[in-house]
This record gives sequence, C-alpha cells and structure tokens, in this order.
Amino acid sequence: MTVIVTGAGGHLGRLVAEELLQRIPPERVVLVTRRPRALKGFAARGAQVRYGDFDDPASLRQAFAGGQRMLLVSTDAIGRRVRQHRTAVDAAVAAGVGHVVFTSVVNPVARSPLGPIAWEQGRTEEILRRSALTWTILRFGSYAELQLPPAAVAVKNGRLYTNGGDGRMVPVSRRDCADAAAAVLTTDGHAGRTYDITGPEAFSASALAALFTAVSGRSVGVVELSDRMLTLLLVSIGTPLPSALSVAAFGRAVRRGYFDVVDPACERLTGRPPASLRDVLVSRRADLLAAR
Ligand SMILES: NC(=O)c1ccc[n+]([C@@H]2O[C@H](COP(=O)([O-])OP(=O)(O)OC[C@H]3O[C@@H](n4cnc5c(N)ncnc54)[C@H](OP(=O)(O)O)[C@@H]3O)[C@@H](O)[C@H]2O)c1
Repeated sequence: MTVIVTGAGGHLGRLVAEELLQRIPPERVVLVTRRPRALKGFAARGAQVRYGDFDDPASLRQAFAGGQRMLLVSTDAIGRRVRQHRTAVDAAVAAGVGHVVFTSVVNPVARSPLGPIAWEQGRTEEILRRSALTWTILRFGSYAELQLPPAAVAVKNGRLYTNGGDGRMVPVSRRDCADAAAAVLTTDGHAGRTYDITGPEAFSASALAALFTAVSGRSVGVVELSDRMLTLLLVSIGTPLPSALSVAAFGRAVRRGYFDVVDPACERLTGRPPASLRDVLVSRRADLLAAR
C-alpha cells in the first residue's frame, strides 16, 4: 500500500512523514509539497518526494499517481481553502486514490465564531462525504504548540488577558495529531469514521494561568476582557488587526464551548495517552521564559 501525504513540508506533514517511515517501507511513502527541495532529507531516506500545489491542478495528476491512501492536510490559505481542497479531492478521484483522510477541526460549523477557519473545514468534509472516495475525517482540537507564544507573553506580564470567559479548551500536540493520522493511514477499520482528536484535559483560563505559573515559576493571574477590549489591547501592542480579530474570535469560540471537546479517540488510535499541555510547555520551558 502506498500512502500520500499532501502539505508534507508543513509542521504537521513532516511529523506524519516521520511516523509513516516507522510504519511502512520508505518507497511506499509519497510526500507532496510545493517545496520538494525542503524535503531532501526524507528523499535521502527513500521516501518519494513530489511537487504538488492545490492551486496548480495539473501538478496533482503526477503527484497523486499510484497512491492508495492519502492524507489531505488542510492548507493555511484561509478564504481559498474550499476551492483548493475540492481540487485535491477531484485529483485524488482521478488518480484512483481509494481512501482520503482529511485534517479538520472540532466543531467545523458555519455558526462558529471562527468563521472560515471552521466552516471551510466543514464544507470540505461535505465535499469528501459526497465524493466517490472512501474517507476518514480527523477533527483536531487546537494545537498545544500554539499556546506557547501567548503563554510566554502571559508569563512575562504576570497576566493572562482573555475573552474566553468560563469556556474551556483542550489543546492537543501536533505530534499526537500526526501519530493518529499515521495510524489511520496504515491500519484498517476507519472508513466513513469521523474522529475528534484532542488532548487529555480541558483548561479554563484560570486553569491555564495556574499551569503557566507552575511551569514557569512566575505568578500569572487572569484578566478578563471583552472581545473589543482584547482586540484593542492586541492592536495597541503592535498586533496586526486581522490577527487581533482572529485571536478574539478564538476566545469567543472557546467561551461558547466550541473547543470544549475531550475524546478518547487519539489514545485508541495511537495506543498511548496523548501529551498534556503541561508536557508540551515543560518541553519548551526555555521558550516559555524567553518573551521580552
Ligand atoms: N487545529 C489547529 O489548532 C490548527 C491551527 C492552525 C492550523 N491548522 C490547520 O492544520 C494545517 C496543518 O497545520 P501545520 O501546523 O502543519 O501548518 P503549517 O506548518 O502552517 O503548514 C501549512 C500547510 O498548508 C499547505 N499548503 C499551503 N498552501 C498549499 C497549496 N497551495 N497546495 C497544497 N498545500 C498547501 C502546506 O504545504 P507545503 O508547504 O508542503 O506545500 C503546509 O502543509 C494548517 O494548514 C491548517 O489548515 C490547525
């Protein structure tokens, strides 16, 4: 069985590639990316590295040739992803790929405060379900690694500014997401299944502040702000407005419960408990203390 990974040059794609190389012979691993030269190390280990860009449909014919299963890594081109993902699904059908696994997000619904970050994923899920392909959907919680920069700022200031209210989130490490994806790609029994891939523990803002305090050794308290005040604060310290609005939208989604999902699927797929946010922060403690 030959397994394709799209977006193999990204953080997640590389981790999936590493895990696949532990599970199947390297010549059975096809890594598709816009930047093949960046994956020279994988090619040297025997993986097939091919050029492929969802904005260049013709490139996908060759890129997807000969694959039986494929991980479709959602792109980061917010606002253009439905078209890109549809192109990839159509190309997978045309190339005879039987089974596509898609990286979605928990609660990918149109009413989510995350807007296209969520609904584009939900729309792609629909495209897959209506396609001629066998599919599996992996709905990831928020990446634990993305908590590191705000955690470092909170440690530096001694304050965690939040508009998340009493809402909770369940960070999951990219490695666990990647290992779950590799497990689905290389074992049977996942056709037509949708899995929520989450970390082991839900965190409110106060639980986050307590964790930041414990890991850093510096006291961090919670300061609750409205969506508007958080956006203004972020802009006032130099955050570009679109990014500030995204952070506020994420907090609003947390407040309304869209990320409050704890599910055992990750452990069932990988055979070991997922890393906790504490594990991720401890492994990056120097970065946690480095914010200026
Ligand atoms: N759950 C979460 O918390 C969370 C947070 C942020 C993002 N995400 C989603 O998860 C995905 C993977 O995360 P990551 O951390 O690995 O992201 P990343 O490192 O920023 O990588 C971006 C990914 O998008 C791919 N891509 C961009 N434009 C493309 C195109 N035209 N055609 C094909 N692929 C394209 C890249 O592939 P190449 O560079 O190899 O071509 C790469 O895999 C993101 O792209 C995003 O959809 C999830």
